[in-house]
Amino acid sequence: MSGTNPFLDPARQAELYGHASRLAGRSNALMRAKISGRPVPDTIVGLVRNHHERPDRLGLALDLGCGRGTSSLTVAQELRPRRVVGLDAAPALIEQARKRAQRLPGLPVSFLQGDFHHLPVPAGACDVVVAAFCLYHSTRPQAVVAEIDRALAPGGLAVLVTKGLDSYREMDQLVAAAGLDPRAEQHESLYISAHSGNLADLAAVSLEVLAVEHEEHSFAFDGHEHVAEYLATNPKYDLAPGLYGNAGALAATLHEFLPDRPLTTKSLVTFVVAQSGGGRS
Ligand SMILES: C[S@@+](CC[C@H](N)C(=O)[O-])C[C@H]1O[C@@H](n2cnc3c(N)ncnc32)[C@H](O)[C@@H]1O
Repeated sequence: MSGTNPFLDPARQAELYGHASRLAGRSNALMRAKISGRPVPDTIVGLVRNHHERPDRLGLALDLGCGRGTSSLTVAQELRPRRVVGLDAAPALIEQARKRAQRLPGLPVSFLQGDFHHLPVPAGACDVVVAAFCLYHSTRPQAVVAEIDRALAPGGLAVLVTKGLDSYREMDQLVAAAGLDPRAEQHESLYISAHSGNLADLAAVSLEVLAVEHEEHSFAFDGHEHVAEYLATNPKYDLAPGLYGNAGALAATLHEFLPDRPLTTKSLVTFVVAQSGGGRS
């Protein structure tokens, strides 16, 4: 595994998650483009309802790598567990998640800064553990899964979510065709450590896998301006100085080299539902 993969490089986490605006900009550009695929937090809630023995009487739910708290808030609102705790390594995102929660008074949700390799809960404390789009930031995702197993109560449920290795491939093709990064299609996938193809196996090392669902999400970007908003937040490419993080300059460069056109792209989203090892017969 490459030590230079930006999603696995500890030195680049501040650039990725040091300001809530990058993640918000990325999510907004993607959500505006989305043409198919269920909202991921709703799917997580549905999976817990379908697979937990008593989804209407949940105790503690932990949302690992919670980012701005989108899934934590949906879990709190829809499943009404006794408490939801969102855990994330990035202080700026925790702050943003807390602000969002304040707009929903009375929800039993709190946010903690921490590392998902060391969960701040006693063994067997959690009825639900969610890890959405975050295990691919660990070079040791099996260690996180082992911690999840430790944290789950008997009968407790883990919902792990990730993307396919070649998600947004059409974006790579556009970046290469525009000459922004001629090697765009050769870079290692950002999701290499925990992706649609290995997530169930990673989970099965410590947990009992109950269900695996793959769902294709598709996106239609209006044109260069819209694509550039997303590209500006993508650390995958080797861009000329001044382009990364600069949607205006990226859009101008795309216009210079390619006629404006909509871009359709896809991402495979994979959900693994698993039970604590303690629940094994
Ligand atoms: C792509 S975001 C996903 C956010 C959210 N789960 C969602 O589905 O929108 C990945 C998150 O994982 C967090 N993260 C990365 N490494 C982490 C670690 N070792 N411990 C806790 N959180 C981590 C990042 O700070 C970031 O907020």
